[in-house]
Amino acid sequence: NIEKKVDSVLSLMTLKEKIGQLVLYNGSWDVTGPPSDVGNKEKYQKLKNGEVGAMLNATSVAGTKELQKTVIENSRLKIPLLFGYDVIHGFKTIFPIPLGESASWDLEAIKKSSSIAAKEATASGINWAFGPMVDISRDARWGRIMEGAGEDPFLASKIAVARIHGFQGDDLSKNNTLAACAKHFAAYGFAEGGRDYNTVSIGEYELHNTVLPPFKAAVDAGVASMMSAFNEIDGIPATGHKGLQRDILKNTWNWDGFVVSDWASIAEMIFHGYAKDKTQAAELAMNAGNDMDMEGRAYETGLEQLVKDGKVDEKLIDEAAKRILRVKFKLGLFDDPFKYCDEEREKKDIYTKENLEASRDVAKKSIVLLKNDNNVLPLKKDVKSIAVIGPLADDKDTPIGSWRGMATPNSAVSLLEGIKTAVNQSVKISHAKGVELGVGERSFVRDLKVNREDFKGIEEAVKIAKDAEVVVLAIGEEAFQSGEARSQVSIELTKPQQKLFEAVYAVNKNIVVVLMNGRPMAISDIAEKVPSIVETWHLGSASGNAIADVLFGDYNPSGKLPVSFPRHVGQLPLYYNVKNTGRPTNADGMVFWSHYTDEKNDALFPFGHGLSYTEFEYKDLKISAPSFSSGGNISVSVKLTNKGKRKGKEVVQLYIRDLIGSLTRPVKELKGFELVELAPNESKTITFEINEETIQFYTANKKWEAEPGDFKAFVGGSSNTDLEIDFTFKK
Ligand code: IFM
Repeated sequence: NIEKKVDSVLSLMTLKEKIGQLVLYNGSWDVTGPPSDVGNKEKYQKLKNGEVGAMLNATSVAGTKELQKTVIENSRLKIPLLFGYDVIHGFKTIFPIPLGESASWDLEAIKKSSSIAAKEATASGINWAFGPMVDISRDARWGRIMEGAGEDPFLASKIAVARIHGFQGDDLSKNNTLAACAKHFAAYGFAEGGRDYNTVSIGEYELHNTVLPPFKAAVDAGVASMMSAFNEIDGIPATGHKGLQRDILKNTWNWDGFVVSDWASIAEMIFHGYAKDKTQAAELAMNAGNDMDMEGRAYETGLEQLVKDGKVDEKLIDEAAKRILRVKFKLGLFDDPFKYCDEEREKKDIYTKENLEASRDVAKKSIVLLKNDNNVLPLKKDVKSIAVIGPLADDKDTPIGSWRGMATPNSAVSLLEGIKTAVNQSVKISHAKGVELGVGERSFVRDLKVNREDFKGIEEAVKIAKDAEVVVLAIGEEAFQSGEARSQVSIELTKPQQKLFEAVYAVNKNIVVVLMNGRPMAISDIAEKVPSIVETWHLGSASGNAIADVLFGDYNPSGKLPVSFPRHVGQLPLYYNVKNTGRPTNADGMVFWSHYTDEKNDALFPFGHGLSYTEFEYKDLKISAPSFSSGGNISVSVKLTNKGKRKGKEVVQLYIRDLIGSLTRPVKELKGFELVELAPNESKTITFEINEETIQFYTANKKWEAEPGDFKAFVGGSSNTDLEIDFTFKK
C-alpha cells in the first residue's frame, strides 16, 4: 500500500523536486519566521520551491510548524519535511550518556529511556532522531566513545535494537514515536590513534565480524535510516563507499530505509582527496548509495547536471527519493504534516516528574561499582560526617554530559544535593571543591584546554577531609571532554585532580571515589589506593539522586562495564575479545612474547566487570550434551546463588571460544547474558542455548557460517571468568 503511494507521488515529481527530497538543511536561523540574511534567504526560497526534503536543529513546535507551513503552502507538491535532531540520551529530560546507560545491560530500561526521549522530542516537533550511535569502539581516546554501547558487537547489537524499538515503537505512525537513524556507517569508532574523523584501515573480516553486526541488527529491527560516517576505510571515504552502502546495506541486507550523509561529508570527499569538486563528490556519493546530503550542498549543486550528462542514472535518484518518501509515509506525514505540532503536548509532555523519575531509575542501574574493599559501601545514612570533595561534587552541569539535546544548562541534581537529600539530618556534611577541573571553559563549540593548573583550594579540602568519617571524592571529566571532536591523548586525571587526591588521601584513607566521565579513564594509582570506586559516567538529569541511591544502599549496584578500563593509555586500543597471537605467554621464561615490558596486558577493570553489595556464587556449570550438529542445539547451565545478605541483581554472561577457525578467533566472545535478581540465599539455574547461530562468524569463505570443531563456553559475572566447559560442533 505504502509502495503504491510512494510510486504515485514520485510519478508527479520533476527531477529538481526529486533531488530536493535528498537535501537536508540546518535550521540556522530563527525558524519561527523568515530569515533575514542572504544565505538563509536562499535556503528559505528552496523550501518554498519544494527543493528541500528535511531540516535539522529546528526544535520547537513553533519553528517546525512554521517551516512545514512554508513548504505546504508554497510548494507545488506539498511534500512534508522531516525534522531531524540529535536525540542521543534524552531530549530535555536527560538520561545517562549512551555508554553509561549500556552499563545497565538492562534492555527494557534502555528501551524505555529511548521511548521517553522520543515522546519528548516529538512533542517538540521532531520526527527523526540521529540515533542510536552503534559504532563499536575500543579506544578510550576517541571522544565519541561516550555515545555508543562500548566495545562488544553482541552487547552493542542488543542495545541498538532496544534503542530503535524505544524510538520507533511498534508503530511509526503514532505521534509519540519517531524515525531512528543508526550511525555511523561504518567503522567510525576505529579512527587511528583515537583521533576523531581520522583514517580507518581495518580489514574485511574485522569489518564484518566486529563493526557491522550492530548495523545488521538495526536493519533487522526495522531502523528507518542510517547515517554514513566521516571516515575513510582503507582508502575509500564511507560516504562514497559503494561496497558498504549499495552492496552490503541495500543489496545483501535488502534494507529499504535511507542513508543520510554526516554533516557535509559528501563535500568533504574533496578534502579526503577523493573528489575534485562538489559535483564529482555528488556523483560518487549518489552512485555509492548515499541518499541524502546533510548541509553539504553537493547534491543540489551537482546532481541535475550529472543526470543530464549521463554520469548518474536518474533511476538512482528515483530510488533515493523513494526511500525518503517511504519513511515520510510510514510516519504518517502525508496524512497530517502537522501531527507533531501540538503546543499543548509541548507544554505537558516534556521534562515531567515522571520522566525525571524514569531517568533516575535507569541512572542508578547504569552505575558500576568498580571496587569496594572492606565493604566501605554502602554508607550508613547516620554516618557521623561526610566530606564531599572535588571539582565535580556540586557540579550541576557535568552530569548532563555531551550531546545533551535541549537540556537546560546546570539542571542536573548534583552529587552534593543528592547526598544531602538522602542522609539523616544529624549527619555533618562538609563540602570543598578543592581544585578546578583543569580543562578550561565549558563549551560545545570551542576546544577545552586540558591541564590548566590551579591548586589553591586543596588546603581547605584537606581540612575538612581530616575530620570526616568518610570522604566522597567526585572527580573525572567535564561534560565536553568527550563527544564529537573531543579526542584526548591522555585519559588520566588532570594534574589538579591528582594533586587533590594525593593531599586528601594523605589525611584520610577512607575515601569513596565517585568517577564522572565520558570515557574509560586510566586510574591505576587511585584503584590501588582507595577502598571504593563508583563509576557514574555522566548520568543525566537525576545524577545526584541516583548516585546517592547507590552510595547509601537504597539501590544495590548492578551495572557491568560495557568497555574495558585500561591501566595505561599506551595499551589502547584495548578490548577483551582479543586474538591469542602466536606468542601469548612467556612459558619459556624468555622476553619474546606479546607484551609490554613496563605494563601488564590486561585491563585494570575488564569488560563485564561490576560488583554488588551482595555476593554471587557460580556453581555446577553443565552442558546438556558434549556436541551438536547442524540444525541442533545444546544448552549450558549454571547455578547462581546469592550468598550475601541483600537482594541483588547480577548480569550472568556467556562467552565462547572457537579453538581453531578458517580465520583466527577471539579468545572469548560474548554470546548471551541475563539480568537476574535474587534474594539472599536464593538460587536460580540460568540456561543458555547454543546453536549454529551462536558460533557463526564471517569466515574465510566470505560468508556467515558455523565451522565444525571444538569450542569452549565460559559463564560468569565478568569477561575474566574462568568457569569453562567444552563442546563440539559437527556439520
Ligand atoms: O548526527 C550528527 C553526527 O553524529 C555528527 N555530525 C553532526 C550530525 C548532526 O548534528
